Amino acid sequence: MSDRYAVVGNPVSHSKSPLIHAAFARQTGQDIAYDRLLAPLEDFEGTVRRFFREGGHGLNVTVPFKREAWDLVDRCEGGALAAEAVNTIKLEGGELLGYNTDGIGLVSDLEQNLGIAIAGRRVLLMGAGGASHGVLHPLLERRPDSLVVANRTPGRAEALVRHFQRYAALAKGGLAARPYSDLSGLQFELVINATSAGLEGAMPPLPDGLFAPGALAYDMMYGRETAFLAFARAHGAACADGLGMLVEQAAESFRIWRGIRPLTAPVIEQLRGDA
Ligand code: ATR
Repeated sequence: MSDRYAVVGNPVSHSKSPLIHAAFARQTGQDIAYDRLLAPLEDFEGTVRRFFREGGHGLNVTVPFKREAWDLVDRCEGGALAAEAVNTIKLEGGELLGYNTDGIGLVSDLEQNLGIAIAGRRVLLMGAGGASHGVLHPLLERRPDSLVVANRTPGRAEALVRHFQRYAALAKGGLAARPYSDLSGLQFELVINATSAGLEGAMPPLPDGLFAPGALAYDMMYGRETAFLAFARAHGAACADGLGMLVEQAAESFRIWRGIRPLTAPVIEQLRGDA
């Protein structure tokens, strides 16, 4: 029987992970089965324990359970330590190991697929929820010139920045929280949207002169052009959605489970073709 994997979430029916991992398995000749697993909101832990009791090998964890997964695993590795959120679980020697591959996914997409250097750049990260939490430390590790976190509820951005304060020195110009109303006069080479505003067709309130010449606007959402990317395009920025990040974080999970990193470019291309 194939080794069993799944993505667990609520909702989970929209997840592209089964498609992506099936493509990776074909490409690398690995014999795996990868399903969607809907967990009731009040029984994430029971769902996970049952999956592994019944012979499962590994899980991806998606909204809204990444924090609960961090609480549940026996041990955290790599990116999960700083993120305090887990998107990948591996069963090893009877223990559940927790990883977070979201940050590596974003950084790989920016640097390898899009050819953007993060080092030395002024970076704006919008949003202070789980999505920002997962990528903040990996972004700092690439040593940007500075990293500003902006959020609609300023207190959440301030709390996030306080939480990651011990890594602030990785950015020469520092790590700071600012309300959107305080961005006027600042320019950024990389603007990342980690808010869920796009789901409602909305975008954070951004001033006109935000994008430095040659700037990249990156939206972690994928599948449609968000109001943020439309705004960025109209203001002369290059644009990218989060499909590459999705495939890169999946490739890193696959590597953790199977010890082999699949090629991502053909899978990104395949998904763009399917859309
Ligand atoms: P996730 O795990 O996807 O980050 P979340 O924790 O609910 O989800 O966070 C959603 C983020 O999108 C938050 O930063 C939220 O801002 P608030 O902290 O002020 O709620 C942000 N967000 C959602 N809708 C928004 C909108 N219309 N404009 C600006 N920011 C928005």
